[in-house]
Amino acid sequence: MCGIVGYIGNKKATPILINGLLSLEYRGYDSAGIAVIENNEICVLKDKGRVANLRKIPEIDTLESSIGIAHTRWATHGKPSKENSHPHLDNSKQFAVVHNGIIENYNELKEFLCSKGYKFLSQTDTEVIPNLIHYYYTNGISDDDKFLRAVKSAIDDLKGSYAIEVISNLYPDRVIVVRKDSPLVIGTSKEENFISSDIPAILSYTKNFYLLDDYEYAVVYNDHIQFFDNSLIEHSKAIKSIEWDATAAEKNGYEDYMLKEIYEQPNSIRETIGTRFKLGEKCCFDDIDINKEYLKTVNKIYIVACGTAMHAGLVGKVAIEKLCNIPTGVDIASEFRYRNPIIDENTLCIFISQSGETADTIAALKLAKEKKAKTIAISNVIGSSITRVADYTIYTHAGPEIAVASTKAYTSQIILLVILAMYFAENLESCKKDVLDNLKVDILDLPSKIEAVLNEINGIKEFANKIYTEKDMYFLGRGNDYYVAMEGSLKLKEISYIHSEAYASGELKHGPIALIENDVTVIGILTDSNLVDKSISNIQEVVSRGAKTLVITNQRLTNNNFDFIINVPETNNLISPVLSVIPLQLLAYYISKNKGLDVDKPRNLAKSVTVE
Ligand code: F6R
Repeated sequence: MCGIVGYIGNKKATPILINGLLSLEYRGYDSAGIAVIENNEICVLKDKGRVANLRKIPEIDTLESSIGIAHTRWATHGKPSKENSHPHLDNSKQFAVVHNGIIENYNELKEFLCSKGYKFLSQTDTEVIPNLIHYYYTNGISDDDKFLRAVKSAIDDLKGSYAIEVISNLYPDRVIVVRKDSPLVIGTSKEENFISSDIPAILSYTKNFYLLDDYEYAVVYNDHIQFFDNSLIEHSKAIKSIEWDATAAEKNGYEDYMLKEIYEQPNSIRETIGTRFKLGEKCCFDDIDINKEYLKTVNKIYIVACGTAMHAGLVGKVAIEKLCNIPTGVDIASEFRYRNPIIDENTLCIFISQSGETADTIAALKLAKEKKAKTIAISNVIGSSITRVADYTIYTHAGPEIAVASTKAYTSQIILLVILAMYFAENLESCKKDVLDNLKVDILDLPSKIEAVLNEINGIKEFANKIYTEKDMYFLGRGNDYYVAMEGSLKLKEISYIHSEAYASGELKHGPIALIENDVTVIGILTDSNLVDKSISNIQEVVSRGAKTLVITNQRLTNNNFDFIINVPETNNLISPVLSVIPLQLLAYYISKNKGLDVDKPRNLAKSVTVE
């Protein structure tokens, strides 16, 4: 949540800061602001609303400064307003701060500062930070590295999570940054340095990055950067070169990122498969040191994630249990971390996070490590926080996902989990070779099958036109189809604001059927040949009660009275969600478009949930 950008170099800072904010807007878009040092004073321009509003402030084009910090906000403390927007200044207007995260003890700190005469202009937790820096700067800090020491003293008082940038007109040649549990990267180039919450926002300027660690400080000048540990002892740091292509984070002619990302799925799946297996060969995971001896000791697997990533985990669980015969549980990270799960050294925990920055998933991972489980992170973002905590990381390689609603990351997560399950099964010899060989053929066929689904979208558009004004919708399925129903329902509510629920078809009679009345929309997913007759009966039950139905299926349905049927190609049931979810992603997309909503930036949501 919240995006931060910074620049120091030999060019005008403002256009670079604004460009960065536009790329980061998916992290928060209820207000935006910048601070630069202009004529020896800090100049702050900020406003409620999108970055577009910030751009309209007339002074913005007059700024000449080549140092600045910027922020796009997702409100936590204090409603979206100009006063609550970042950057925040201290009372003397000598220190400006932008902050991503939450300061849990800000009330206490505010009381302390008020007792020292400081005044507060906003309701934010962040405003304590510049004032604390000022307090320490003017109270007993020695002259050596006074700015850095004052920042460090202020940071030492904070409880919570933060990625922070600080500038001061007393030190117009540097930006100080520090992080804990919130992402921050520094991109470096000749005579200029860039700071950002994530890599894609500054990828067009450089491919060389420093990934800041928790409690690590960087003092960023235009031509060099100093790194310090939590005791302010200076150290050197390795650069990481990122191979992503900057154009991968652009829209390339698509109206919205979400549509582009839906259409990228044939390719993102190819990238996820990568070199992990070839036909006739065993699966290979060079990135994890998990062998047969260790796997034989594993008596339980937990898959832990949030939202869509958790839905991918549910599909992964089915594959692991079927192919490896290891009991596997799927947990929502925010529940897992507080429920004292039973974990020991015989437990393997897999954490899935597209962004790799989700606060609850990272906290759950830390808990599992404390309890001695082996941990694997599945992430899409190279060098993200989760990858630096887990014992092993496997990357989905789906390419940058910018739209808030996750699409291609979900299908890549599923495929990666299924390949991982095959790898475990091959090590454990828990599954017949021909079963795995057939599954590999089916996985390799997926990209062309996805293309086939994407070429036949008229039915979905027609159905979206018919139902986009509805208030409620229901999704039904059994087995993996239920998990796809959950994902379809989440996509719909996220970007169309239509209330929807997903139910396991068999649960219908245990309560939800009471909600079915004339003309209500029910979407059924039927792809499992073993369960199709039972699922059809459940959908017939809602048809008899007047529901309008859309059925997504890879089965030949005869003698049915469903209103709409969308056919998807047949495949192995373990991976069928990768095909059946695509009409649901498109349905949510077209309903949202019909309603005239902002598909990529749905209200109240942010791409990366870095706070609890
Ligand atoms: C839904 C969506 C969210 C994320 C969830 C976890 O479309 O994108 O539900 O899946 O916030 O995010 P990551 O995977 O970044 O941990």
